[in-house]
Amino acid sequence: MTMRPPLTNLPILLEDVSFVVRDVTILDRIDLMLTPGAPTVVIGPNGAGKTTLLRLAMGLIRPTSGRVTWGGRTDAPADRRAIVFQRPVMLRRSAEANLRYALAAADVPSTEHESRVRELLALVGLASLGGRPARKLSGGEQQRLALARALAKDPQVLFLDEPTASLDPAATQSVEDLIRDVAARGIKVVMSTHDLGEARRLAGDVVLMHRGRIVETNNATAFFSNPKTSEASRFVTGQLLV
Ligand SMILES: Nc1ncnc2c1ncn2[C@@H]1O[C@H](COP(=O)(O)OP(=O)(O)OP(=O)(O)O)[C@@H](O)[C@H]1O
Ligand SMILES: [Mg+2]
Repeated sequence: MTMRPPLTNLPILLEDVSFVVRDVTILDRIDLMLTPGAPTVVIGPNGAGKTTLLRLAMGLIRPTSGRVTWGGRTDAPADRRAIVFQRPVMLRRSAEANLRYALAAADVPSTEHESRVRELLALVGLASLGGRPARKLSGGEQQRLALARALAKDPQVLFLDEPTASLDPAATQSVEDLIRDVAARGIKVVMSTHDLGEARRLAGDVVLMHRGRIVETNNATAFFSNPKTSEASRFVTGQLLV
């Protein structure tokens, strides 16, 4: 049996965080608290800083100024956080082998690999495709495999960068169902999307970004019915934020 430390990742707190590359400010004095509960959905136009925000909150990059803490610590290990990038890259092996690799990387004992592989494939609806070369799976199947691979870490927090971009409606629905399942298991989902409908369907709370800033943070119901800012009301009514 593996002993897991108590919840160490939440809340994730970003305090006055900026991210500057050369002299370009990509994130500008962000304050954000990510707490347990329904998914937090980050929305905003191209280039707003959504991916950069997820990478910072995951701990892949460090802020130029300000600080990020996980459960109050600046040095919380990332072993119970996982991120799925917009275009996940699979190993040139079977779907199962990709999951075994992820389980080994997460220090899951090899005696548990077969049962965990079965469980993860079933969870993401790929039980019959485990032997297929991962890179030959369809876009939607690869996205679900990428989710399974991230879940191999048994994460407390799962970051998803545009998990349904470029998927058709049926594949989008199966990924969204999976995200709901994951959230129902108590995993904190923090995801970005361009798709307002997706934000409505999944979000517990919404973070609207524009030009490197957080314009509005609100619970989803209030965000869509009674936005606080003119940017949010424009965004919600389908006007372009440029
Ligand atoms: N390491 C970097 N060096 C230079 N510029 C960067 C770097 N990372 C991000 N940027 C720039 O910062 C801005 C925000 O990028 P980011 O990828 O976070 O936006 P986004 O909201 O995810 O956009 P999209 O919706 O297109 O995915 C963009 O203009 C991008 O080119
Ligand atoms: Mg992005």
